[in-house]
Amino acid sequence: MAAFQERVFSGVQPTGNLHLGNYLGAIKRFVELQTKYDCIYCVVDLHAITVWQDPAELTKNIREVTAAFIACGIDPTKHIVFNQSQVHEHAELAWVFNCVARLGWLNRMTQFKEKAGKDRENASVGLYAYPSLMAADILAYRATHVPVGEDQKQHLELTRDIAQKFNNDYAERIASLGFKDGFFPLTEPLISGPATRVMSFRDGTKKMSKSEPSDYSRINLTDDADAIAQKIRKAKTDPEPLPGEEKGLESRPEADNLVGIYAALADTTPAEVLKQFGGAQFSTFKNALVDLSVAKLGPIGAEMKRLVQDPAHIDGILADGAARASKIAAPVIRSVKDIVGLVHS
Ligand code: TYM
Repeated sequence: MAAFQERVFSGVQPTGNLHLGNYLGAIKRFVELQTKYDCIYCVVDLHAITVWQDPAELTKNIREVTAAFIACGIDPTKHIVFNQSQVHEHAELAWVFNCVARLGWLNRMTQFKEKAGKDRENASVGLYAYPSLMAADILAYRATHVPVGEDQKQHLELTRDIAQKFNNDYAERIASLGFKDGFFPLTEPLISGPATRVMSFRDGTKKMSKSEPSDYSRINLTDDADAIAQKIRKAKTDPEPLPGEEKGLESRPEADNLVGIYAALADTTPAEVLKQFGGAQFSTFKNALVDLSVAKLGPIGAEMKRLVQDPAHIDGILADGAARASKIAAPVIRSVKDIVGLVHS
């Protein structure tokens, strides 16, 4: 690893309402990592169009995710914030990776299976090749660390497989061009903390997601205090009081989920939360969770709503970020062309 400069990369799709899972599993972590690493945070619009997007909605959603990044505390002047389609190196490298990745590897991807559903013949080619583009996002910057929620783990394993195969296939060429330890790093996923998999409020065994039809299944980052309170009060629970220790959360998925959310929002651990609330009824705990959620999420939603009023300002941030991202990615892609044997100017 020593040969690679440490760098964080991550992305979020602009496909509709950002929710508490996106915040706790990803964006909140992005914010924290800014003090330790150089970070690149990307609104992955090319990933979004692997399933149909209404064009006007897509534009709006790209700006909304950008607003969320900034409202949550990402600094686009110290770090880089941009939308994927403005840096053509992502798509270029994805093609090379399509030629490195094996069909057998992509056939194993559970996200494709879930998203394509039963009508697989009718899924886009882009949806199938999605993980190659994701590997390209990361490796165009030779990023070493990628913060994500639990659901992206398999895609990050594939990214490592692609990097490794590229390094092996072209090992001689890579060494002759003077690169030590291979050309691409084997990226480390950063998946940790109490909320790597936030679950639906209606069913503690299902992931909280943008695509679940019921809005009561999730808290959106733009929900106001009333909506947040209502959704938490209606969230499914079980009849027992909260346990005093984490072991007592086993086989209680809804309780486990709400305790994890509380811990993540309060920057503490589930064990600490249970020390405070062990023995309490859900009604008491939910009141505390409402207060905490409104205090933490309210200002973010308000700031997002303020920022999206000025699309020109957001577009300026994205253009500036894209120009800076491209400066890092362009020489990487030139080296890839040298390694592969493609003629370029
Ligand atoms: P996306 O847009 O679905 O989600 C963005 C981030 O939110 C996390 N997340 C969750 N975390 C905890 N609990 C949940 N219920 C939950 N739902 C979503 C996701 O794990 C993710 O970190 N393929 C990626 C986007 C992507 C990307 C990349 C990420 C494209 N290129 C390169 C990292 C690096 C995706 O669809 O995320």
